[in-house]
Amino acid sequence: MIALELSAVIGRHGLLQAIKGLTLQIARNEVVALIGANGAGKTTLLRMIAGLHPLADGEIRLFGAPIGQMPAHARVKAGIALSPEGRRLFGELTVRENLQIACENGRRGDWTLDRVCAALPQIAPLLRRTAGGLSGGQRQRVLIARALACEPDLLLLDEPTASLDPTVQEDVHALLRDLNQRLGIIMVSHDLGFVSLYFKTVICVNRDIHVHATGDLTQERVARMYGREVRLLLHAEKAGGDR
Ligand SMILES: Nc1ncnc2c1ncn2[C@@H]1O[C@H](COP(=O)(O)OP(=O)(O)O)[C@@H](O)[C@H]1O
Ligand SMILES: [Mg+2]
Repeated sequence: MIALELSAVIGRHGLLQAIKGLTLQIARNEVVALIGANGAGKTTLLRMIAGLHPLADGEIRLFGAPIGQMPAHARVKAGIALSPEGRRLFGELTVRENLQIACENGRRGDWTLDRVCAALPQIAPLLRRTAGGLSGGQRQRVLIARALACEPDLLLLDEPTASLDPTVQEDVHALLRDLNQRLGIIMVSHDLGFVSLYFKTVICVNRDIHVHATGDLTQERVARMYGREVRLLLHAEKAGGDR
């Protein structure tokens, strides 16, 4: 079953075309890595899927229903949650309050605050802390917990391990492995070692081309996706990249 479908999606920042006609399909509960150089458009793409950046052209469908013009809060209700780049939380509020806001604004379902805390044991001790006083790794876990509390079918994670210590990165990776098969995930990562080990599906966003690759990926193969050889290497699904 197809969960998310992008058809010839174009995203702009003013005159700059950041996403140049991307077509792809993501199955239900599929976990997908989104890679690409800085400035390639990864954040723009996730924000467009979440409804936080306008869709200049094309269509986005979630379980078959067009959502390309739906406001962000309605997309949360439809089943999309974004953990944004930069670890933004409501800094003045406690962790519990941050999570409660997500519970109240998301959908009703399995991921109650208790279940989120059970799935992420590191969260419970933080509930009474003020979000602004947390370390980077703690904030990242709270961001993932907050996204889960929205009951998503599709979780979008923008660089969840950026600038974390390696041991904390490993904790976050372990957390994501635990979530495997329970919901769909699109995760932006620069850790190609992790990507090649964990992800069967990798989407590479480049300035000129977009490639969707599935199958066994070696680190070398993933790394080459950043370059032009990728067209020869993979049975790539290339979508309007030359526009
Ligand atoms: N708010 C903005 N205003 C203008 N240009 C932007 C803005 N945000 C991003 N861009 C540009 O859009 C392109 C894609 O950016 P972004 O989606 O943040 O890339 P990535 O997440 O892959 O690093 C870059 O060239 C960037 O400079
Ligand atoms: Mg980014």
